[in-house]
Amino acid sequence: MTHPYQSVPVRSSEITPRDVYLSRRDFIKAAGVIAGSVALAACLSSPEDAPGMTDTPAGDSPAPDVNRPAFTDELGDPANTFEEITNYNNYYEFSTNKEAVAPLSKNFTTSPWTVEVYGMVNKPKTFGVEDILKLFPQEERIYRLRCVEAWSMVIPWNGFPLASLLNMVEPTSDAKYVRFETVYRPEEMKGQGSPFYPWPYQEGLRLDEAMNDLTLIATGIYGETILPQNGAPLRLVVPWKYGFKSIKSIVKIELTDQRPNTLWNTVAPNEYGFYANVNPNVDHPRWSQASERRIGEFTRRETLMFNGYGEQVAYLYEGMDLSLQY
Ligand code: MTE
Repeated sequence: MTHPYQSVPVRSSEITPRDVYLSRRDFIKAAGVIAGSVALAACLSSPEDAPGMTDTPAGDSPAPDVNRPAFTDELGDPANTFEEITNYNNYYEFSTNKEAVAPLSKNFTTSPWTVEVYGMVNKPKTFGVEDILKLFPQEERIYRLRCVEAWSMVIPWNGFPLASLLNMVEPTSDAKYVRFETVYRPEEMKGQGSPFYPWPYQEGLRLDEAMNDLTLIATGIYGETILPQNGAPLRLVVPWKYGFKSIKSIVKIELTDQRPNTLWNTVAPNEYGFYANVNPNVDHPRWSQASERRIGEFTRRETLMFNGYGEQVAYLYEGMDLSLQY
């Protein structure tokens, strides 16, 4: 069966025609409205906690969604509904309460927006979001998102490979890492008033990880412009790493020869590593990573090495002792 979202790049001949896609999308939205009436389990973390302290066990999971849309990832897992994806969010700039993020971020200003790409590059450039949408063809990809807190979702993203953007600015041969920074706007993001975190949120990747074809800059979900709670207008998606690597609302991308400091690694270095590859064999110091709760399902499922993307990314870590790479 062909469907418009793929977890790996698709040939244009495989892409579902637009009219079929649109009618399926209407179906998804309709299904999502029904699912939206099912309350999600609250999963609160206090500001002094690292993420996931209070992740609920399987028994507290929300009721399964019998209207789950027909879109699946390449492992056959159904996509989460639009309502689930947009109402259960980690975005500490707005709140540590996942269900409060959507209402609190509703009026966040996402236009105008620019992202500055600079550092060890031959052609530094500041892009407006509208330039980005014109310059880089938008693709549709279904990826699993595995949060370090041991819950997961399947999300149909729209976006483009980060590699296309990086190639345009021409990294120099000295560049080894990419550093990302979220916007700092405490007047709109009340969480940035919290002294527990070193704002703005920062993340980083090795350059070869950033250039891997799976690494996406997302601009949409289910064909809709991405909403503030999911990181509008531009967010990173690195599907084989724990979700905290997938930084939201990016305003700076710096090419550097120094390994970047990241927010979570700075707050709790023994709990949140720089690599943060999904690995069921390495437990978080305070909970197991062997299994996960898929939002919308009753029972827990096994967590997969590299979140199931080993074929595409294992080569990046050859020779590294992954048991030491939390
Ligand atoms: N980016 C910023 N700027 N601030 C955050 O708090 N949370 C991360 C990541 N990106 C976060 C962030 C975490 S822990 C996860 S699991 C994902 O975003 C959640 O993405 P989602 O809400 O779109 O599912």
